[in-house]
Amino acid sequence: MHSEVERLSEMAQAGERMIERLRKQAFLPDSRKGLNIRFGIAEAAQLLGCSTNRIRMAEDDGRLPPPPPTENGRRPGYSIEALQHMREVLGASPARAPLDRPAMIAVQNFKGGVGKSTVTTHLAHYFAIQGYRVLVVDCDSQATTTTLFGFNPHFNITREQTLYPYLSIDPTQTDLLYAVQKTPWPNVDLIPSNLELFDVEYELAASGADGGSVLASRFRKLKQGLEDLARDYDVVILDPPPALGTISLAVMQAANALIVPLAATTPDFCSTVQFLSMMDQVTGQLSQAGLTVDYDFVRLLCSKFDGNDPSHAMVRQIMEQTFGPALLPVSILESAEISHAALRMMTVYELERPIGSVRTHKRCRANLDEAMAQVAALVRRGWGLATPASPEAVVNG
Ligand SMILES: Nc1ncnc2c1ncn2[C@@H]1O[C@H](COP(=O)(O)OP(=O)(O)O)[C@@H](O)[C@H]1O
Ligand SMILES: [Mg+2]
Repeated sequence: MHSEVERLSEMAQAGERMIERLRKQAFLPDSRKGLNIRFGIAEAAQLLGCSTNRIRMAEDDGRLPPPPPTENGRRPGYSIEALQHMREVLGASPARAPLDRPAMIAVQNFKGGVGKSTVTTHLAHYFAIQGYRVLVVDCDSQATTTTLFGFNPHFNITREQTLYPYLSIDPTQTDLLYAVQKTPWPNVDLIPSNLELFDVEYELAASGADGGSVLASRFRKLKQGLEDLARDYDVVILDPPPALGTISLAVMQAANALIVPLAATTPDFCSTVQFLSMMDQVTGQLSQAGLTVDYDFVRLLCSKFDGNDPSHAMVRQIMEQTFGPALLPVSILESAEISHAALRMMTVYELERPIGSVRTHKRCRANLDEAMAQVAALVRRGWGLATPASPEAVVNG
């Protein structure tokens, strides 16, 4: 005889087994050998901001390896590694100058399901394709971002590989280097998470009267640890838990920029307003306690816009009226391509071929590029750089 409560454990175990099955499917040797995306020469030239001729000449005179050989009459194109090498040889790296501070972007809202992890991972892969060095830090014990990098947080990640040993009340690590893992992307590293990271929150609750000082010391520690790591990166992207807790506050304080994703729905609008006023109070309290919060930019990003739903257009308009230029002009469109890629534990940027129709895929990809470019422009502005004008912008005056 099973009680309903015992069913919880059965359901959890059946769920874990299914996740592992899905992950194995996503990683069948045939379906995913690392990162298989390729870029044609025109695309490569556009990404490097040079002419195709410049690439061909460097290939001819031996500065670059010969172009990838044709397969079945088609050139498979350049890998991300090849693009990175090309950037080095042709002096086309977008990396920050050594004295510019790395962007440390928290993608935060206190609501679940608003697209934090989707924005985090797509932003990371967008920056990687553009040639930046990226570190993603999964600070959420729900670990969706870890999953989207192809790890099963339950089976592949131990507590010792998360932020826990560093943030614990009895820390076993004095810096964060131990936690940095390689990903299939040559220029994206990840600090993964799993459910056990939540122990950090329990420990604080149990620390009783010392709570305040424990909290402050953890804030300082996370900020210091991330700043030390960030020296090797251009962009650090933080995916905090969707609640007001130790870790999320520590992340908000460590970050130097804030992106707030929300859908164009009334519940998301209302909870985002709550989030903003809570942030306002908390940052005030933190600075009274000598913990400064300082952001280069704070922007809202509409993360799942459905153009066919009139209510989305209405709420988006309300958002524009309310937040003005703090709302990024380009929304991420709701797309089956994004949710289908998520089912394969991937981002749209990792797909070698469309999951849905070519048209759906292209539309989704173009929209993501445009939405993510808005964030890249803010980062580059922080480094005193103007974003190169897009060809369309020039054409359209
Ligand atoms: N633009 C989008 N189009 C389609 N599905 C999306 C989009 N953005 C997010 N989703 C889906 O919405 C769900 C919640 O997104 P997620 O990024 O996990 O939110 P959060 O991290 O805020 O909890 C996921 O299933 C994700 O695949
Ligand atoms: Mg998430």
